[in-house]
Amino acid sequence: MKKIMFLFFLAISISLALILVLNPQPVNGSKYTTPALPGTELPDSVMKVVKKACMDCHADDGNFMAKGKVNFSTWGSYDDQKQMKKAASICKQLTKSSMPPKKWCANNLEAVPTQAEKDVICRWANSLQK
Ligand code: HEC
Repeated sequence: MKKIMFLFFLAISISLALILVLNPQPVNGSKYTTPALPGTELPDSVMKVVKKACMDCHADDGNFMAKGKVNFSTWGSYDDQKQMKKAASICKQLTKSSMPPKKWCANNLEAVPTQAEKDVICRWANSLQK
């Protein structure tokens, strides 16, 4: 009986040693995967438009609802995946002219994005899609 116990522990020790030596890669989705790194900052051409047309609301000192959806002050801290999704949504809102909101546009005529500016943003947004 003692011998069996000894063999049993020996087998476990060998298994543990093998696991340590072989150091298997963690399975995808386990808690060992590396956290997503922050993505890239907005290019200047995009920042210029966003600053005048969106950051009244979509910024740290903006509208609570708006910055909850997209906050251009903290864009660089969004990971790649999030930037990709938000950018697609931004282009969609611009294309439909849903953003900036009509009421805001009426009071900020000079800041309403032109077609050329919308194109700049959508081209950038498309370039992020994988
Ligand atoms: C006057 C304030 C204001 C301005 C200016 C503004 N937004 Fe918004 N935006 C909001 C609010 C409020 C919401 C959230 C409420 C909602 O979903 O309708 C929102 C939501 C959004 C969303 C998320 C939509 C969704 O349903 O997922 C996007 C994308 C967006 N805005 C893009 C923009 C862009 C791009 C600009 C600049 C061209 C802009 N917004 C300018 C107020 C603003």
